[in-house]
Amino acid sequence: MAKVLVLKVTMINDKVSYSTAILNKFIEVYKNKYKNDEIIELDLTNEPMAQKALTRDNMGNFWNKDDSEKYIDQLKSVDKLILASPMVNFNIPAILKNYIDHVFLADKLFSYKYSKKGDAIGLLDKLKVQIITTQGAPVGWYPFSSHTEYLRGLWEFAGAKINRPIVISGTKVEPYSKMDINDFVKSELDNIMESLKEF
Ligand SMILES: Cc1cc2nc3c(=O)[nH]c(=O)nc-3n(C[C@H](O)[C@H](O)[C@H](O)COP(=O)(O)O)c2cc1C
Repeated sequence: MAKVLVLKVTMINDKVSYSTAILNKFIEVYKNKYKNDEIIELDLTNEPMAQKALTRDNMGNFWNKDDSEKYIDQLKSVDKLILASPMVNFNIPAILKNYIDHVFLADKLFSYKYSKKGDAIGLLDKLKVQIITTQGAPVGWYPFSSHTEYLRGLWEFAGAKINRPIVISGTKVEPYSKMDINDFVKSELDNIMESLKEF
């Protein structure tokens, strides 16, 4: 039995959120495939830690037990992570960055200690990550930005294995923008199942 952490990030209402619709469908088909797995859901909108950005004023106490250690322990206790994130201003939303800033600590998620070449060694080497990303613009409109590749690189840096990402680009333009959310999910079912195969 595997333990799975689901990280929900979006600022968009559930009824009209593309990333939530994909995330929910992915969890549904995942549960069908792995009936005994334990799923833990973490919605960053509801986590006080994710509302706190690192500043000069809080640096001394930023990585405390409640805001940091608790989430690091949680991350280390799971076998899989399913992370769904939209794009905001060409990047991940600030609440996800705040989460990352609280958990990506040297000697917890990565270490330089045993590195021969001077680069970091990821300590989450048992973790498998499913990335789900959405963005309003179609792929290629703004080549300078990819939150998908940022997330891939980040979790690889921590030693995790990245499954085939589910990338939804162009939610603000047709055909997605004109679709009912249920029809949208149906149209992405093959995409979802393709990633589930290896996860
Ligand atoms: C404040 C804000 C900023 C956004 N910035 C971008 C952006 O830089 N590039 C982009 O392609 N889409 C951008 N979008 C569009 C969202 O990424 C897109 O609508 C996404 O599907 C919303 O999340 P959802 O998938 O949970 O519905 C932005 C949306 C909002 C609300």
